[in-house]
Amino acid sequence: MRINRRNFLIGTAASCAALAGASTAQSATRPLPILPMSDLTNGFEDRIALKLAASSHDFGTGAASSTFGINNSYLGPVLRVKQGQTLPFDVTNQIGDFSTIHWHGLHIPGDVDGGPHQLIQLGATWSPDVPIVQRASMSWFHSHAHGKTAQQVYKGLAGVMLIEDDASLSADLPKTYGVDDFTLVLQDKTFTDAGALDYTLTETALEDGFMGEALVINGAIAPVAQTVPKGLVRLRILNACNANFLTLSMATGPLNVIASDGGFLGATVQTDTLFMSPGERYEILVDMRQVDINQLIVTHGLPELGGIKGIMRELLSDGEAVVAALTLNRNDKVGFDGSVPNTLANLSVPDPSKATVTRSFELEQETGADLAALAAVGDNYCGDHSAMFINGKPMDIDRIDETVRKGDTEIWRISVDDFRHPFHVHGCSFRILSQENAEPPAYAQGWKDMVHVDGNQWSEVLVRFDYDAPADAPYMYHCHILEHEDCGMMGQFTVT
Ligand code: C2O
Ligand code: CU
Ligand code: CU
Repeated sequence: MRINRRNFLIGTAASCAALAGASTAQSATRPLPILPMSDLTNGFEDRIALKLAASSHDFGTGAASSTFGINNSYLGPVLRVKQGQTLPFDVTNQIGDFSTIHWHGLHIPGDVDGGPHQLIQLGATWSPDVPIVQRASMSWFHSHAHGKTAQQVYKGLAGVMLIEDDASLSADLPKTYGVDDFTLVLQDKTFTDAGALDYTLTETALEDGFMGEALVINGAIAPVAQTVPKGLVRLRILNACNANFLTLSMATGPLNVIASDGGFLGATVQTDTLFMSPGERYEILVDMRQVDINQLIVTHGLPELGGIKGIMRELLSDGEAVVAALTLNRNDKVGFDGSVPNTLANLSVPDPSKATVTRSFELEQETGADLAALAAVGDNYCGDHSAMFINGKPMDIDRIDETVRKGDTEIWRISVDDFRHPFHVHGCSFRILSQENAEPPAYAQGWKDMVHVDGNQWSEVLVRFDYDAPADAPYMYHCHILEHEDCGMMGQFTVT
């Protein structure tokens, strides 16, 4: 169904010279932006207002880009909340188009999930009461407006929710926001020569999802730098790229991974590299007791037909960029002086024999050329949203694909015939039984809501759904390459 996607054009010597100027402007180190944090853990007075609005933002190019923000010029606030609370949101949409806000990672019923059925029309306010029942974890929220998700998230409709619980609040871990506890939203963006945010979908971008030329952290083009005290530093990291998989490492020492999508791991996992799909979250500890400086290194894919800069970097670095994304510089202050904990949480061993149902999901898509042809006749880049499929069918908002019984344990088996896709399921956290035909890396063996699968392989997760999602407010499962999701690589299920 698809052809070789490695068919990019070759740049000329003249374009290399043009690139040299552009890349110097991008390599200056900026301060790490600290996303504004709303701490709701001690309560809140009234309803919690989130305003989605068009805005403008300078990512560091010196030019204003037109963006979307949630109470901000770009991205949303970091919402710090506590297990047991019910959050009364008023989400107002002023972006000039319809939208939604989905709470990615939350264990909540379908009617407050914020998927494509809970559309917020332009000028309207959506007021869900969102119960926080789950354990401490890093979730996020983003637009899920079907057919528009990719462009709306790219322009900034995304934010982070940090859930705390009694155990996490008393845990011996760094937790002073913006001092030794940082939230990092990693994205990739492309900019025009004038420095404005660019979202142009080439055939390759339609096929692979949009890949940006520059890594952006909390809305600033990397590299960024931050001064930290002597001690442990906690980084809570979200891959909010539309389509890019990221590989993380440290300049000095291993990554100490303490949490994944759905909460703390059983024990700290030390690893040299951490592979993150779009939609995934991981928390790590960096030990700044023995070193004066350390760097978070991020390797990411580059666009293959992404303009002159993309083409040149492709030739120079084999399609990948390596960025010393975040430099941590230690000052003389004494910070969190504990050590990297060994055990973190009590995680049971997943028991597949508990599963009473097994479901299979096969992801498929048309080629980039077919997609471009569809885009040319449709009213948007997906044509009629029917170029990508799960189990042979493109997403249909009027069709329920699977019906799940509440409380049943199930095995979901995901497979694909071409390249790597990240798969996400609403309304739950699951455990990965196998990923790409193998045992998942130790850091992916805790609670997750993302799993990835590569060509001609499969992945399996053990999952249970405990909240209601009726036919008028079903949950979604989908590829988290947002262009694929928009083009139909998504399905709907009820839980009753
Ligand atoms: Cu992060 Cu259905 O989405
Ligand atoms: Cu989700
Ligand atoms: Cu996909």
